[in-house]
Amino acid sequence: MLKSVRSVVQLRKFEFNGDKRRLAACGDLKDLRLLAKRNLPGGVFDYFDGAAEDEWSLANNSSAYSKFGLIPKVLRDVSQIDTATTIMGQPVPFPIALSPTGFTRIAHPQGELAVARVAGRNSLPFTLSTLGTRSIEEVAAVATGPLWYQLYVWRDRGLSRELVQRAKAAGYKSIMVTVDTSVFGRRERDVRRGFTLPPKIGLETFIDGIRHPRWTYKFITNEPITFSAVAGRSDVDGSKAINLSDYVNSQFDPTLSWKDLEWIREESGLPIMLKGIQCVEDAKTAASLGVDAIALSNHGGRQLDGAPAPIELLPSVIDAVGDSIEVLVDGGARRGSDVVKACALGARAVIFGRPYLYGLGAAGELGVQWALDHITSGISRTMALIGETSIKNLSSEIIIKR
Ligand code: LAC
Repeated sequence: MLKSVRSVVQLRKFEFNGDKRRLAACGDLKDLRLLAKRNLPGGVFDYFDGAAEDEWSLANNSSAYSKFGLIPKVLRDVSQIDTATTIMGQPVPFPIALSPTGFTRIAHPQGELAVARVAGRNSLPFTLSTLGTRSIEEVAAVATGPLWYQLYVWRDRGLSRELVQRAKAAGYKSIMVTVDTSVFGRRERDVRRGFTLPPKIGLETFIDGIRHPRWTYKFITNEPITFSAVAGRSDVDGSKAINLSDYVNSQFDPTLSWKDLEWIREESGLPIMLKGIQCVEDAKTAASLGVDAIALSNHGGRQLDGAPAPIELLPSVIDAVGDSIEVLVDGGARRGSDVVKACALGARAVIFGRPYLYGLGAAGELGVQWALDHITSGISRTMALIGETSIKNLSSEIIIKR
């Protein structure tokens, strides 16, 4: 009897590492998100997960991908698939890169270091945010892949110059200027909670902290979280709890305009990417000014609610600019098949933030790797299933608009 039961029941080997066990039970990024939600205090999770106003753009960024279907071709020997490409001249094994995210250390004490290490192991570009919580130099010391530096232009132009110079000296390969944040979007989950960075300990956060002891222990026992770019400048380094909206509105320069791009280029001597282009006219202007790349982005729905999904905007931008400028897509991609759709519609690459933040909050480096594996394996599998062997050969012929 026991023998016959054994012959049909295979016992799964118990995984003693809790993070690995929980990750093994995740099927997709929605599961990873729930794991992060379980691990992180509500305010921290909502800061990453939330978006502006009604969060319509946030939802639309992802659901817009389902308006595009794929046309599979069969019997085409897909045993070898080439997913490699270049982004601004840099070779990458997959058409993806990691977007900048602010205040990453509240998800995990290693913060940007964990993400940069994983990106490097996968030879993928990682972008450090101006509002990062590990310094330009610390990240450069651990990264083994290409680094990009995301710039918010400060009212204090001297400070902006200094950051660009530091990034260049530390070997960063390009400057990504975020252009959709003339003022800060209204993130109402944060407004409701009175959320500050770093989180202020009020009664609600105290109770939240008790309910998430692992996070709280790490938060209390690690060095304080500050904006590393301006470490030591107590007026702006975030060592006192601040409301991010007041901070951005008081520190970043709302006069920023097209003519400022020239000094950023001159100062850095590096390729420039504009992140936050949201209409055809601006894409054309960027191309005509000789900007190296643009990322169509509505900041993950965190700025102007109602702004179009990058994937919806992509076809008309490609019609207008052709291949005069590299066009990347940021926001909403949650599967490898989304990346394949974007590349088929003319994107050079897809960049993303929340997927790796969910991984970081769920299980540190292991979680970030899980998120990347989920997307890269999905790219290869989708290519095989549609019968295409090279990312570079994808075209809109494989897309059907629903
Ligand atoms: C945000 C800023 C930091 O979206 O980029 O929260």
